[in-house]
Amino acid sequence: MSRKRVAILISGRGSNMSALIAAAQAPDYPAEIVGVLSNRAAAPGLAIAAGHGIATASLAQSKFPTRDMFEDTMTQVLESWEVDYVCLAGFMRILGEDFVDRWQGRMINIHPSLLPAYKGLHTHERALADGVSEHGCTVHFVTPGLDEGPSILQARVPVLPGDTPESLADRILVEEHRIYPEALRMLASGEVRA
Ligand code: GRF
Repeated sequence: MSRKRVAILISGRGSNMSALIAAAQAPDYPAEIVGVLSNRAAAPGLAIAAGHGIATASLAQSKFPTRDMFEDTMTQVLESWEVDYVCLAGFMRILGEDFVDRWQGRMINIHPSLLPAYKGLHTHERALADGVSEHGCTVHFVTPGLDEGPSILQARVPVLPGDTPESLADRILVEEHRIYPEALRMLASGEVRA
């Protein structure tokens, strides 16, 4: 079996990244994590990835005159790693159309809501304010519209009495760490296509 080469894009702590790295350590997992790219040099996930012997890079968008130049440089880094697939894992930048087109069908994201509900930020606060009984997370293909691409997997959790955005986020994060590796497995093995 030839394993697909995967890069992960992060901006922060990288707990989903860690879940993907852990899953990819299984010998029968169809993908290997070959690089982690952050738009923040201080992202704690970078050190975690480096600790696993994975190539890392950080690129600050503010250092580039335009978003296109920033994203072209990201593409160069990803191509230097000979990447087949890109996983966004808490990457807090909206990507431009050229970059998204470049990786169309080969780039996935995890979002902390049951899409199409609650696109964008502060999903847990908004779900609690609406009094919903269920919330969750979605792994989806990345398309030009924010959080709009086709879903690959979702997980649901109940909203419990007394939940805060933090307690709800914690309950959902457990599910994120379960479905993201499973969705990447499905993509890398050819079980799912855009
Ligand atoms: C997760 O909640 C993910 O759903 C969202 O950003 C957060 C990233 O957390 N896209 P982590 O960096 O993976 O811990």
